[in-house]
Amino acid sequence: MAFFSRGTSLFRCSLAVCAVSCVAAGLAEAQAPQQRPTDAQVDRFVRDLLGKMTLDEKIGQMEQAAGQPMYTPPAKQDELTRSGSVGSFLFTTDPVRINELQKIAVEQSRLKIPLLFGYDVIHGFRTIYPIPLAMASSWDPALVEKGQSMAAREARSAGVHWAFAPMVDIARDARWGRIMESAGEDPVLGEAIAAAQVRGFQGAYVGEPGHLISSVKHFAGYGAAEGGRDYDSSNISDDLLYNVYLRPYHAGVKAGTATLMSAYMDLNSVPATGNKWLLTDVLRKEWGFKGWVVSDWDAVKSLQVHGLAESPADAAARAANAGVNMEMTSSTYRETLKQSVAAGTISAATIDDLVRPMLATKYRMGLFTNPYVDLAAYKAAQVTAEQRTAARIAAEQSAVLLRNEGEALPLHKSVKAVAVIGPLADSKLDIMGSWAIHGDRNDSVTVLQGLREKLTGAQVTYTIGVEIERGSATIFDEQVVPEKLTLTTPEAKATEFAHALDLAKAADTVVMVLGEAQTMNGENASRASITLPGEQERLLEAVVATGKPVVLVVMTGRPVNLTWANEHVPAILNVWYPGTEGGHAVANLLVGDVNPSGHLPVTWPRDAGQEPLYYNQNIPQNPENVAQRYWDIPSTPLFPFGYGLSYSKFTVGAAVVSGSVTASGNVTVSVPVTNTSGVRGATVVQMYTHQRAGSAARPRRELKEFAKVTVGAGETKTISLTMPAKDLTYWSAASHSWVLEPGTFDVWVGLDSAASQHGEFSLTK
Ligand code: BGC
Repeated sequence: MAFFSRGTSLFRCSLAVCAVSCVAAGLAEAQAPQQRPTDAQVDRFVRDLLGKMTLDEKIGQMEQAAGQPMYTPPAKQDELTRSGSVGSFLFTTDPVRINELQKIAVEQSRLKIPLLFGYDVIHGFRTIYPIPLAMASSWDPALVEKGQSMAAREARSAGVHWAFAPMVDIARDARWGRIMESAGEDPVLGEAIAAAQVRGFQGAYVGEPGHLISSVKHFAGYGAAEGGRDYDSSNISDDLLYNVYLRPYHAGVKAGTATLMSAYMDLNSVPATGNKWLLTDVLRKEWGFKGWVVSDWDAVKSLQVHGLAESPADAAARAANAGVNMEMTSSTYRETLKQSVAAGTISAATIDDLVRPMLATKYRMGLFTNPYVDLAAYKAAQVTAEQRTAARIAAEQSAVLLRNEGEALPLHKSVKAVAVIGPLADSKLDIMGSWAIHGDRNDSVTVLQGLREKLTGAQVTYTIGVEIERGSATIFDEQVVPEKLTLTTPEAKATEFAHALDLAKAADTVVMVLGEAQTMNGENASRASITLPGEQERLLEAVVATGKPVVLVVMTGRPVNLTWANEHVPAILNVWYPGTEGGHAVANLLVGDVNPSGHLPVTWPRDAGQEPLYYNQNIPQNPENVAQRYWDIPSTPLFPFGYGLSYSKFTVGAAVVSGSVTASGNVTVSVPVTNTSGVRGATVVQMYTHQRAGSAARPRRELKEFAKVTVGAGETKTISLTMPAKDLTYWSAASHSWVLEPGTFDVWVGLDSAASQHGEFSLTK
């Protein structure tokens, strides 16, 4: 499973590789490089090729092997490739090695079928972009699309063809480590971000030069892991599956994703990777998906662990019959499917159906004519100025200003003495976030560095104050081995703590950069508590007690407990993990060269005990005392879904709603949004509805539309949001079907999910 090192190939072969062009020998039609083939050409090519393949070769195409030498030694990789026993490698990112393997594939294998190289291009390749949860905080699908297209360009130049992203799992629980990789809790925002990522990775069509194919994952429901524990079972009612969880995957399919990845866990007791209902009935029959499915790491073999299959052969047959085209890392297909065809537990026709879309993708991507990496172009494409600019803008647009009492921010550029304190303030590793596995920390700009470059007239002092115990996460490879702790004795810790307080006392303003080490979230990194790890909270309280103005910069992959900070620290800027250019972005935000405009894509809880906490819950009995469900803390969130401040001040006037509507009509809601401040800024106008009565209880609010708008100083803009009435359709657990029910609906418009401008409309037959 996932307790593996993600080391990229250490193997560097000196063998010169010439960029020969190849054509699958004797195959129907050569493909001109970079030319988009017609569907008919693709079909003909695939039919001819399939007709030449042995059953072993077909099954070989269904295997994806780990490219790390510790899992597949280089000689074994060569041999698998030569014998046509593998269709794809993952985690091979060295372009020289990619060329070597392609050369073996297209010159030495019988049918000369090129390989497909896949990798976790999650939020950047070498240039690291803000984590996906941050990108979603921009509420700007165009920005998200641009980010993934930039990542695609860099990765493709290295010979990577396939991103194992976007992860579109709905995440309602901050304990779950992979919330950082999600677009948060909402299906409508999730749909928009999912589609944007697919477009960004793939471009206008599968095979567009400079692009990758995407893999919408983890199909389906991985984000509902019980207790927020990674890999645990997901038990999701049909109501929630259809109305919430499945929607972003469907959006990814509609956006044209070439592949999906089947999830590890069991969904309502049927493991996703052997779940025929999910992979065939829903995905192919209901949604008309024409691409292919790869399993998650070892997930086919794991069907036996789950107790679905009684043997590796049974696991392989179940996964293949359910609709998993390619097996990631385990080799049960290679070892057993041939015998299963002979035994009749899977048909030869099913194998053909599974192989066809994979061959088609390789053809569409132009790999049969141009499988090689241009090494000079690769070098020139990494961490370019253009990449850095795009990464910085993305980080600026995705930070969320959570609090700004007394306009503590922005900092005055004339400030004379600033103390920068915290274990994350100068960490080149943490600022990249999790899943930055191909990133090089040497490229990172830290917050300290960004502030020093920005505040040239000030004395900027710095110390960590405390260290964060990073645990022993094994997920990262040699390039991102965490720094070792330096404060190893109680005396050293006390001295450093006191030093931080001294710096704070000597400064005019303190910027504290606190949060989670990047190893604390991501895969296999759930937390039972969401407090600021280690001694950070104690440090924060002590620095605040000095009486100096404190700005808290939060760097994290999940909402953390900021209850104390929200009462005592005047300014809190949540920057998530902002990536390679994070330090420049944060400095621009802190001094007001850029005005914060991010809004939360997740409900921010007060404490882990509230989780899962999400805004679109059903209305409980006694809604008036909903805030008092616990003895010890309010049951309301610290910050609602959709929330985010700005250096501008916005007010939202009365909503005008377009009255009654029929099923084929549109509902339009207009509100005046005024920027009462002297600073131009952007905010996110959000529209929520509630169905007052129907065949099933409906969530108290559901996001339906949103728009990120920029409003000038002192300006008023009328913002109209239009929703097709058919978007009020939902899957009813009463009738087990999709329904659009006439009746009265509430509508709210505002700048977060607690929006107060209210109206109503009716839906008539
Ligand atoms: C993760 C996937 C990832 C795969 C390959 C798995 O452990 O769940 O999201 O794409 O590994 O690295």
